[in-house]
Amino acid sequence: MSANARPAPHRVLVFGASGHVGAFAADAIAGSNRNVALRVATSSVDKAGELKARYPSAEIVQADYMDLQSLVAAFDGVDAAFLITPDFRIDEQRAMINVCAAAHAAGTQPHLVKLTGVTIGINNANELRPSLREYPGPALQYQQARAVLNASGLPVSFLNSFAYFMDDLLTVWLLPLLNRRVLSAPFDRSTTFVDTRDLGEAAARLLLEPHDREHDGYMHHVTGTERIRFSEVATMLTEVLGVEITYEDDPQAFKDDVEEVVNMHFGPGATDYFVEFCLNEQKEEPLFIVTDVLQHLLGREPRTLRDWIEEHKSAFFPESTALPS
Ligand SMILES: NC(=O)c1ccc[n+]([C@@H]2O[C@H](COP(=O)([O-])OP(=O)(O)OC[C@H]3O[C@@H](n4cnc5c(N)ncnc54)[C@H](OP(=O)(O)O)[C@@H]3O)[C@@H](O)[C@H]2O)c1
Repeated sequence: MSANARPAPHRVLVFGASGHVGAFAADAIAGSNRNVALRVATSSVDKAGELKARYPSAEIVQADYMDLQSLVAAFDGVDAAFLITPDFRIDEQRAMINVCAAAHAAGTQPHLVKLTGVTIGINNANELRPSLREYPGPALQYQQARAVLNASGLPVSFLNSFAYFMDDLLTVWLLPLLNRRVLSAPFDRSTTFVDTRDLGEAAARLLLEPHDREHDGYMHHVTGTERIRFSEVATMLTEVLGVEITYEDDPQAFKDDVEEVVNMHFGPGATDYFVEFCLNEQKEEPLFIVTDVLQHLLGREPRTLRDWIEEHKSAFFPESTALPS
């Protein structure tokens, strides 16, 4: 072990353990054969019971990124923590400043592992296009989190999902899929998809391993297994679900389908922002790469999009389970 290595942790804190990624990180830690205590945090008191049922031997704490006192209590005795924040609905800078203050107060120099979704090669807010820099959406949030955490002097790593979550097919793109049998994803561009179970497990690996301080600020750029365009995803959905899904490259149609729901959930302007985000991905396509980092972290092949669709067939069109694939 290098002289700069921090030993494996004794107590790990996981935020967002009731949601995407965090739940699977907590599962992997709870199921590991390491001698490590798990503490899971939720900002919502209503979720404490559900978390206690899922993690009976874990400590459950209520902690809110906006409430410093609750964070100080949550970080007490912790030497590694998984951080995940919601898109749009939080002041990311303030949240991360509070996290760093609480982590310093713990006196244990906890290793912070933050989930981001940065385009590889975009390294600070000034490098974002104005439309993404001037709206408090995820592209800006990722860079704000990086800036605050990297300046904190704490051991920090980023699990950077340069990939859409496969689950998004059942949320972001679901309405037009069900209502019109189209994959409405404007600006047909190369992308990848990652399974949130794999991401959570990868986060657990980063948290449970000794952390070398020479790697502070390191971005673990994880992607899916293959480069794929949304038009090709439509073809894959058709093949696996046995239901004809047409690809639609029409920003206005996309907005018409989702604007009401998205703006209600994420705030005014969120749909326009999302369209800009997608257009930006098309412009940044030359920066697009697929990495083997996820495979390396997991020590096995990550799950593929085709297998994920097969597994979730009945969630799309229950009747398609009866159709030949
Ligand atoms: N979807 C994608 O394709 C994709 C791709 C790459 C990266 N990402 C990134 O992944 C991250 C998570 O996305 P998501 O859709 O899974 O997010 P999410 O479920 O909306 O939020 C993540 C978690 O944050 C916790 N949380 C919310 N407010 C909090 C607060 N004030 N204090 C403490 N915890 C709080 C929630 O847990 P509690 O309610 O229990 O507190 C929740 O489970 C985002 O940063 C997103 O940009 C997403």
